Amino acid sequence: MDSRNIKFETKIVAPGVAGINEAAQLLKQGEVVGIPTETVYGLGASCFDKEAIHKIYIAKGRPADNPVIVHVSSLEQVDFVARRVSRNAKKLMQSFWPGPLTLVMKKTASIPSVVTAGLDTVAVRMPDHHVAQAIIQLAGVPIAAPSANLSGKPSPTTAQSVMDDLNGTIPLIVDGGPCQVGIESTVVDVTSEIPQILRPGMITAEMIKSVTGDVICNNEVSEEVRSPGVKYAHYRPNADLTILCGPQAAVSREILFRINQDEASGIKSGVMCFEQTKRNYSGDIILLGSRFNLRGVAQNLYASLRKADELGLAKVYVEALDERDEGSAIMNRLIRAASGNIEEI
Ligand code: TXA
Ligand code: MG
Repeated sequence: MDSRNIKFETKIVAPGVAGINEAAQLLKQGEVVGIPTETVYGLGASCFDKEAIHKIYIAKGRPADNPVIVHVSSLEQVDFVARRVSRNAKKLMQSFWPGPLTLVMKKTASIPSVVTAGLDTVAVRMPDHHVAQAIIQLAGVPIAAPSANLSGKPSPTTAQSVMDDLNGTIPLIVDGGPCQVGIESTVVDVTSEIPQILRPGMITAEMIKSVTGDVICNNEVSEEVRSPGVKYAHYRPNADLTILCGPQAAVSREILFRINQDEASGIKSGVMCFEQTKRNYSGDIILLGSRFNLRGVAQNLYASLRKADELGLAKVYVEALDERDEGSAIMNRLIRAASGNIEEI
């Protein structure tokens, strides 16, 4: 059942002084606002305002047991939201903030439990986007914000994608341009001695290890328990995705074979591939970028998933990437978008 009700004429505003002021005012009044960050657009509300946080869950259709990330614009603000900040946490902040790294720490009593879905920890990050920082500063409070998509859909990396998902349910979206990183932050639990990656991102395990000396990756712990959000359907376009991995030539042959088969049965299907193999295909090709530029691939990823819907595809075959370095964060999102549908050729 859809409990969202259309009650706003949602506006997209430029990221100038007027737009930033309007966003900060709305946040102070307990409204939720679409905010650009370097990773994906966030749906922000004051982290101390229970009612406002509740509005985020309603607008997104988000399950109530999935906690949201609190965004700060200064290190001083961390003390308002987190306690017992460990040495590793401080080192990671120093190395990667502002940037796409979220740290899970013990929460303070002033953080309402609706932010953390009842957990005694809170996830905190400092976004590397001057518009996000300006809005947080002007609002004067840390801003709780999940990605600004409808629950289950690909995260938005442009103001227009936020509009496509949330038109009528929020008053304002600040347009900060296309997101530079393109996928959500790495989430790291720093409440125990060895940091644990709960969600991979562009700050890789290697990068974290180089600062803390040791790190546990999410496939080594029960991620569903530690980071509630990862158990839900995510990033799903309407099309059915199938990821194919194996030698490149064999994967291309198989994809072509399946697309032809689909065509014969009247199913509209396409391929999501890389510069290196695009010449193997014809028809509906969604280009993810070069295999040798994973940052570029991440930047394009969610727009590519949304493109599958724009093209009206019923099926999309996706070439797999190596799950090394940044490839692991990208494959994590693709595998979820495909509901785990991955085949070895
Ligand atoms: O880059 C990002 O992280 C973006 C931008 C807007 O900052 N935000 C984002 O939020 O991706 P969201 O709500 O889509 O994902 C938050 C993730 C979820 O997997 C959630 O379970 C996890 O962070 N999380 C939040 N609080 C947590 C906590 N206290 N303990 C463990 N995981 C937590
Ligand atoms: Mg999300």
